[in-house]
Amino acid sequence: MPDATAPASGYDRFAAEYERWWLPVLATATLGLLDRLPPDLGRDDRTLVDVGSGTGILPVAALRRWPRLRAVAVDASSGMLELARAAAVAAGDGVASRLETRVADAAELPLADRSADVVTSSFMIQLVPDRAAVLSEVLRVLRPGATFAGVTWRSGELPFEPEEVFFDVVDDLGIDVPESGPQPEPYESAAAAADELRAAGFVEVTAGDEWLQRQWRPVDYLDLLEYWTADDVFAPLADERRVRLRDETLRRFGRLPHRDFAWRAPLVSFRGTRPD
Ligand SMILES: C[S@@+](CC[C@H](N)C(=O)[O-])C[C@H]1O[C@@H](n2cnc3c(N)ncnc32)[C@H](O)[C@@H]1O
Repeated sequence: MPDATAPASGYDRFAAEYERWWLPVLATATLGLLDRLPPDLGRDDRTLVDVGSGTGILPVAALRRWPRLRAVAVDASSGMLELARAAAVAAGDGVASRLETRVADAAELPLADRSADVVTSSFMIQLVPDRAAVLSEVLRVLRPGATFAGVTWRSGELPFEPEEVFFDVVDDLGIDVPESGPQPEPYESAAAAADELRAAGFVEVTAGDEWLQRQWRPVDYLDLLEYWTADDVFAPLADERRVRLRDETLRRFGRLPHRDFAWRAPLVSFRGTRPD
């Protein structure tokens, strides 16, 4: 998986892989945020700002849902935002003309004070080195009374048997596993997320546990390993070793019951309001 702490370089280089392999995994949770946004987004002159927007899944869906909405997708990676722009063009319905993309760090939003009617963020806050700085920027750009809604990982990842089987195969074939770089920092709990929002100055704060779930087909999970979560294991391998690793992993996946491919990952969703 790309270095989580080097978003501009990491995600620029892996933007296409992100869109192909990882985005579908996160999509339900990201799109679920739309149902928690204030209903008045359908009115004229409303602006949604999506921070760490990646390939623009959330703003593009929001612009399709609310035909008069405008959106700003902010991301540190220009490669991700190029895909966001392409997704907006592909969506039709004038979506592209209502989407602005801005390459910027979440801790320095290139937006005026009190210019956003809602700010969203999905699977980004765990990546930033200074969360308080990002939350303070979100507060600055929100209009008084406006909402910030987000979702991200929560600590307590569950063991997943297919992943363990894969790394057993890696070990048995004598393949090196590169040192992992700095890791993302999920919230410890929903309460911890709520505390951070309150400390940043948000009011009417709510946060809750959620779960991301997926029933994997073995071959799809193996693709995810090869192209996203364990791409650094595959990358140095010659073709023959790569095929061997895939074949042996699939063979051992074949021994696992269907239920072992039911994946669950803990999330936290949160919401806060800028006080008047
Ligand atoms: C896991 S992706 C999530 C993308 C999108 N929100 C989604 O749900 O698909 C994380 C995104 O956050 C961006 N990112 C990471 N750190 C950032 C920062 N400090 N400022 C702005 N964007 C950042 C990355 O470039 C990447 O596009």
